[in-house]
Amino acid sequence: MVPVKRPEQLRSHQWYGAGGLRSFSHRARTRQLGYLPEEHLGKPVIAVLNTWSDINPCHVHLRDRAQAVKRGVWQAGGFPLEFPVSTLSETFQKPTPMLYRNLLAMETEELLRSYPVDGAVLMGGCDKSTPALLMGAASVGLPAVFVPAGPMLPGHWRGEVLGSGTDMWKYWDDKRAGLIGDCEMTELESGLARSPGHCMTMGTASTLTAAAEALGVTVPGASSIPAVDSGHDRMAAKAGLTVVDLVHRDRKLSGILTREAFEDAVTTVLGLGGSTNAVIHLIAMAGRAGVRLTLDDFDRIARTVPVLANVRPGGQRYLMEDFHFAGGLPGFLSRITDLLHLDRPTVCHGTLREQLAGARVHDDDVIRPRDNPVAGEGGVAVLRGNLCPDGAVIKHIAAEPRLLEHTGPAVVFDDYRTMQRTIDDPALGITADSVLVLRGAGPKGGPGMPEYGMLPIPDHLLKQGVRDMVRISDARMSGTSYGTCVLHVAPESHVGGPLALVRTGDLITLDVRARSLRLHVDDDELARRRAEWTPPPVRYERGYGALYSEQITQADTGCDFGFLARTGTVPDPYAG
Ligand code: FES
Ligand code: MG
Repeated sequence: MVPVKRPEQLRSHQWYGAGGLRSFSHRARTRQLGYLPEEHLGKPVIAVLNTWSDINPCHVHLRDRAQAVKRGVWQAGGFPLEFPVSTLSETFQKPTPMLYRNLLAMETEELLRSYPVDGAVLMGGCDKSTPALLMGAASVGLPAVFVPAGPMLPGHWRGEVLGSGTDMWKYWDDKRAGLIGDCEMTELESGLARSPGHCMTMGTASTLTAAAEALGVTVPGASSIPAVDSGHDRMAAKAGLTVVDLVHRDRKLSGILTREAFEDAVTTVLGLGGSTNAVIHLIAMAGRAGVRLTLDDFDRIARTVPVLANVRPGGQRYLMEDFHFAGGLPGFLSRITDLLHLDRPTVCHGTLREQLAGARVHDDDVIRPRDNPVAGEGGVAVLRGNLCPDGAVIKHIAAEPRLLEHTGPAVVFDDYRTMQRTIDDPALGITADSVLVLRGAGPKGGPGMPEYGMLPIPDHLLKQGVRDMVRISDARMSGTSYGTCVLHVAPESHVGGPLALVRTGDLITLDVRARSLRLHVDDDELARRRAEWTPPPVRYERGYGALYSEQITQADTGCDFGFLARTGTVPDPYAG
């Protein structure tokens, strides 16, 4: 029997039923909204946080999908109220939606806390929206279920199946190399992204929604359901049903987002060959749940988990719809149960073990068996060395193997715009062996760590057939990108990390097997350069950008704001 909370046990009771003028006013205003007393009094109030927007193609279907969530909430005896929250569109928002992840996290936290809410359904999926919503909700700690937006349908062009993002980069390089022209590009515009939904490669969106499912905060199997599949409606309704149940059982996010859950999310991300962005976001999400997750956790776990998802760009062929029909995340997790913590709870089940009972893989080429992995170990490696004392990451499974151990001379760009303007200039003398270095693109320097990390290959090398080079930056890279790109170098150059001291011509060695990144400049010379170094000027003198630049932490600690990441008391808003 599902326990049912008495009205006075609900948080929303303080608004609606406590008596006095305020409760009278809240009830009167709910009549103004058009609701009868029997429609809401004494029922759990469920906030449906919706990141729908006309500008966000990854979330454009969520306006309708919220109706399915509400259906589930009503069916379970709850009272749903939809809250529009800001949308983070990876495609349109500049300089990068990463600048606004913490803003959406703050908005989520403050909305849930300041309104009469007993539980929440969080709707998002385009890259940063998943961590933002979960970070905010974790800080409040109410019962919550995440509804992933779902991947868009596979792209098609002239008989080829296209992956959004990944094939955009590929064909843009083909155009620069003179292999295709404007007509082909115009056709491609209509073929790359052909339905609502987030990117359907194993990019940042698919990686983070899978991480949410692995954490146990979604309906089982939710993360790979294509956005326009009718199964997506059913999943949304189930999320609505589930959250009401969680409220009655008093099952808060804090009981789900445990250290074991985060370790399993890391295992999942690595075994999927997922996006490097997940490293930053999972560390930040864990921090909000009071769990200290570090780069060392990623490195340790990466050595234990093989990559089994044969999904682009880490895998060779498939896209998220294939992954879904091959068994989705439950199928994938069923192959690595020995690496998971099976006795922890999820929003729908008492244990992950129960949740995975009956999960199967239906296509061994899409979700590989353990004895035939896509790669023998996890898809992200953590690097250390004198160029990155606090770490750096590389998605080595998306790199050309010949470059995984490479020494070459640096060609340094101080900022992205200079790099864009000059990279094709033959006078720079860039060869296929050069190591391209970009700085000024970190958490403070970017600010927001724009996804500049896949630096373009110079035109003249593209025409010679060069498609990969070693690239190093304090930036991030899109989850749909590929290449030998060392990312998230910490500390960043803007705060005087060693990346700030590199000069064109310095030799750099990348050795992924040894997990090392070394600048061949001795300590005395580095000390001399440091003495001459002056910090770059502040880019935002006022406004949110200034707050961001002042408060943002480095990549290895998740790029949260200092005042949000710390623990401490927040008074109950209804105390006054
Ligand atoms: Fe939204 Fe890729 S642009 S997920
Ligand atoms: Mg992306």
